[in-house]
Amino acid sequence: MDIDPSTDPDIVGDAWLPPFARDSFDTVVLDPPYCGDFQNMNNQKVRDLLAGAAYIACRRVVWFHPTWIEYPAHMKPEKAWLVRVGRSCVVRALQFFIPPAVKEPVKYFTRGPAVKYNRWLQQPQGLPFGALPTRNLKLETGN
Ligand SMILES: C[S@@+](CC[C@H](N)C(=O)[O-])C[C@H]1O[C@@H](n2cnc3c(N)ncnc32)[C@H](O)[C@@H]1O
Repeated sequence: MDIDPSTDPDIVGDAWLPPFARDSFDTVVLDPPYCGDFQNMNNQKVRDLLAGAAYIACRRVVWFHPTWIEYPAHMKPEKAWLVRVGRSCVVRALQFFIPPAVKEPVKYFTRGPAVKYNRWLQQPQGLPFGALPTRNLKLETGN
């Protein structure tokens, strides 16, 4: 998924509010830009961004960014590395987290780039991201 259609992603979407149902993927990788909204990753932004990823990942969330983050969105740290990407460079944090078993979708953003989604999050019918992932649906064969 990417917000920029020119990258030819499978899905055009915003990582602040990923358009997928709970536990849609085994692993979700967050490799955001190092500029703009993602340059200064304060605690509130980390919580918001990682909560969306934790909601749609059932086994693991991977974070790759110059900002080292701490236990976001009730996830457990699994493993982590500092990655040197050049001879003289800003290093990257490569961190693996395990999402919690009990989790809720984000219902409201208090600050940051995703507040624009609050008007849709608050509508009574919710957003059409699906209640259950396809993997949990049993096919009815009729036998
Ligand atoms: C560091 S690159 C990641 C490249 C990708 N991992 C790859 O190997 O092709 C960051 C990407 O995040 C995308 N991006 C920026 N803001 C985004 C957002 N809010 N939601 C989803 N993608 C976003 C950019 O368009 C850019 O393609």
